[in-house]
Amino acid sequence: MGTQSDNIKRPIEICPSILPANFSRLGEELQMLEMAGADRIHWDVMDGNFVPNLTIGPDVVSSCRETVKLPFEAHLMVEDPDLLAPLYIKAGCELIMLHVESTKHLDRSLNGILELGVKAGVTLNPATPIENVKHVLHLVDQILIMSVNPGFGGQKYLASQEAKIERVGKWISEQSLDVDIEVDGGISAATIAQATQAGANVFVAGSAVFSHPDGAEIAISELRETAAAAQ
Ligand code: DX5
Ligand code: ZN
Repeated sequence: MGTQSDNIKRPIEICPSILPANFSRLGEELQMLEMAGADRIHWDVMDGNFVPNLTIGPDVVSSCRETVKLPFEAHLMVEDPDLLAPLYIKAGCELIMLHVESTKHLDRSLNGILELGVKAGVTLNPATPIENVKHVLHLVDQILIMSVNPGFGGQKYLASQEAKIERVGKWISEQSLDVDIEVDGGISAATIAQATQAGANVFVAGSAVFSHPDGAEIAISELRETAAAAQ
């Protein structure tokens, strides 16, 4: 984990979620997102227990690894992240984010990811206090603030989460940490500015990208421009 002076604006990154993608042609969908200007691919991994939905296994991620050059980040919405994280790292994910609610020993789980040579992130559900990540900020590359209750795309953005973004942003700049703040859930051209003003610089977008009437490229550039104007 490095340090960073607190007055530099962190680069805006747009990370489409694969959740709304057509899974019968996932590789082509990733190539479409790469052509459309996505910065990363956000794999929403759900085990049907931690959240009431079941999605992508590591073999699917690994079969898509060579289709694009984009970095893969895994959002682990699973009951046993210590068991599954190594599988998604092996599959080609370079950033693994686990939920504070999914492990009894957060520091140990994050160190387990770092020891495998990839970046680690931590994420929290809307009802979870931001204080739960305060003592692992020095370990992570990214904090993911859920602005919906996890499990499904297309939900309404929870503006209540902006207070958490502001608070963790303050801690990060006070300690001059090199940590991104990512927001996930209900991000669109209508909500990305307020999330940016609160202090986020990385944005997951599923439905806003896949269901934009003018296509993913317009959607991604609109999101990026709106966030940059709000920084
Ligand atoms: C929800 C996932 C999100 C979701 C985002 O559990 O973690 O990444 O797919 O979808 P939208 O952008 O449509 O809210
Ligand atoms: Zn997600």
